[in-house]
Amino acid sequence: MADEPLVLGIETSCDETGVGIVHGTTLLADAVASSVNDHARYGGVVPEIASRAHLEAMVPTIQRALDTAGIKATDLDGIAVTAGPGLAGALLVGVSAAKAYAWALDKPLYGVNHLASHICVDQLEHGRLPEPTMALLVSGGHSSLLLSSDITSDVRPLGATIDDAAGEAFDKVARVLGLGFPGGPHVDRTARDGDGKAIAFPRGLSASNDPAYDFSFSGLKTAVARWVEAKRRAGEEVPVADVAASFQEAVTDVLTRKAVRACKDNGVDHLMIGGGVAANSRLREMAQQRCDRAGIVLRVPRPGLCTDNGAMVAALGSEMVRRDRTPSAFDLSADSSLPVTEVHVPHTEFHAHAHESLR
Ligand code: KG4
Ligand code: ZN
Repeated sequence: MADEPLVLGIETSCDETGVGIVHGTTLLADAVASSVNDHARYGGVVPEIASRAHLEAMVPTIQRALDTAGIKATDLDGIAVTAGPGLAGALLVGVSAAKAYAWALDKPLYGVNHLASHICVDQLEHGRLPEPTMALLVSGGHSSLLLSSDITSDVRPLGATIDDAAGEAFDKVARVLGLGFPGGPHVDRTARDGDGKAIAFPRGLSASNDPAYDFSFSGLKTAVARWVEAKRRAGEEVPVADVAASFQEAVTDVLTRKAVRACKDNGVDHLMIGGGVAANSRLREMAQQRCDRAGIVLRVPRPGLCTDNGAMVAALGSEMVRRDRTPSAFDLSADSSLPVTEVHVPHTEFHAHAHESLR
């Protein structure tokens, strides 16, 4: 443990300014400043507001994380940062801060992928990931099935949503039902008083000739909106809890069925679920039941580590240092559409020279 890396991670891809500090796979600090309330009245994240909030929160959040961990910045072995995907302006604040700290402290810099971080965070709770691991990544911007044989270098997409992300569908359905933003936690809570079998909402891309690992939630979202609209037009009361529960049942049914199938087809006996939607209580419950039945070991981080945070970035950064991965160059830039296969943005030949000449 003594020689495990001590890494600080910065996350600013959306509306949370997250700073985490990790020692090997031990979480020392997880400071998050969220601008979620500033976006609530717009019903979605406003990029300019998010960027400004990151700028204001960055230094105090880093200080808070260092204080909580009881370490000095000079003790760190590396600085990791989300380089993408995400909102360009928001990412830029984190990348600039990470570069400034890494440069000033003369520490290696690791620009990492947000999606791989959502997977790697589970190491802080359940120890090192088995290789290979199947990951179901479900967040506000992504819904993918990813197969990873090494979380620092090999993440292979098997399938993804062809339209809305699962979290997006939760947020839109919450809006239709007049619940708050972001919708996921509200739907989750409301659904507890409802019957998931009350309404048979469609399961997208579930026919036998549909792509096995892709998802589609846009039809489901529209079906819910139409159903609610019809009730209102007929002057009937909308059974909000039953709608929430039935919608949630449809989403979790498809997600867990396809994830278990992906494990079976690929001979993988560990399933990891990450991203904000992995905080959903019904998804966690159904995934556990189906994995138990299929003899698959399920790993899901606690809800606080599923939504965006800095600890997940630090967790992946720590693994990069441990595996001796090449650090990023100081001309690292934010890439709003960084492909999932690019787990980290390393030194290139050109970068190496640029770096030398800067020194
Ligand atoms: O991973 P995340 O924090 O940010 C992105 O990278 O997108 O995910 C945010 C998404 C939102 O759509 C939010 O509604 C959803 O995760 N979410 C949930 C729950 N908690 C957060 N969805 C369903 N049930 C929850 N309990
Ligand atoms: Zn995320």
